[in-house]
Amino acid sequence: MNTKESVKQYYGKVLQSSGDLQTDACCSNAEVPHHLKRALSNIHPEVAARYYGCGLVRPELLHGMRILDLGSGSGRDCYLLSQLVGEQGFVLGVDMTEEQLAVANRHLDWHRRKFGFARSNVAFRQGYIERLDQLGLEDNSFDIIVSNCVINLSPDKAAVLGEAHRLLKPGGELYFSDVYADRRVPADLVKDPVLYGECLSGALYWNDFLNLAKRAGFHDPRLVEDRPLSVSNPGILARIGHIAFFSATYRLFKLDGLESHCEDYGQAVIYRGGIEHAERLFRLDKHHLLEQGKMFPVCGNSFRMLQETRFAPHFEFFGNTDIHYGIFAGCGTQLPFDRTEAPVSSGCC
Ligand SMILES: C[S@@+](CC[C@H](N)C(=O)[O-])C[C@H]1O[C@@H](n2cnc3c(N)ncnc32)[C@H](O)[C@@H]1O
Repeated sequence: MNTKESVKQYYGKVLQSSGDLQTDACCSNAEVPHHLKRALSNIHPEVAARYYGCGLVRPELLHGMRILDLGSGSGRDCYLLSQLVGEQGFVLGVDMTEEQLAVANRHLDWHRRKFGFARSNVAFRQGYIERLDQLGLEDNSFDIIVSNCVINLSPDKAAVLGEAHRLLKPGGELYFSDVYADRRVPADLVKDPVLYGECLSGALYWNDFLNLAKRAGFHDPRLVEDRPLSVSNPGILARIGHIAFFSATYRLFKLDGLESHCEDYGQAVIYRGGIEHAERLFRLDKHHLLEQGKMFPVCGNSFRMLQETRFAPHFEFFGNTDIHYGIFAGCGTQLPFDRTEAPVSSGCC
């Protein structure tokens, strides 16, 4: 059985609910904001029970957006995003596993009625995230692409990132949660169907991921949040040894000509406010928490991530790239993840 067939088997036949997983990958310690808790409570119990994600894929400013979810599973994130994009927006979920799609499709109309929409703004298609061309999806046709605990399962991650880059509109972003390792996972573990299906042994070493993302055209990947994963099954623990796994959310903007490093041109921005649910504080990434009304020095790349995207109307921009002042120190060091576990503040999944 090849990798994709064995993953299909795992998500279609072996797992019946998130309680069957052997790690806490789908238990988010992150505080789920109140408005999202309310939106999550609107999701059908069968869809919610088959949630296997590892983070909260919820970027800001979603109203009216056209979103693609790679590996949408039973559709939990699609139905969450459906409420956030509103009736004028659209969410397309793509997954290869029939059983997962069957659950997602079974509740399309239930969610439409629950959200009070005249027409559903969600659709699901069966397909491979490495071969989105087979679904006839057009270049530059999505504002945002999300994915939750899926890309680690793909045997061709470069193709997935390449397809995401092709499908995003300029200024759009791939905002996704996934599992990463602190080193390259040995080949014998990659062959283990349970370790692979559990989103562990297909995980990329984080630095290999960064290089792959850059090669796909996402020149400055930004880490939004991360947490270490803990594994409870003693058999799995013995096999993975000292490899540390992390769940992390990255945002990758499609902006031509972003520089490979953060460079200082003496530029700055002021957050004007007005982004719903982030009125006073806007988080671009782990290293950029912008307070309303306060001048914030930024590198040339961060400047463009705010000026050439949907965030632009909410910022004032100061400076240009005429004079270069050297490397910019404010965008974080290269070792991305924190090893200390945040206190558990919410229940699993
Ligand atoms: C860990 S689950 C996550 C599902 C969903 N994102 C969620 O948060 O509940 C992984 C999903 O990705 C799908 N998947 C894995 N590899 C895929 C591929 N190459 N193409 C399409 N779907 C894939 C599986 O069928 C499964 O539904």
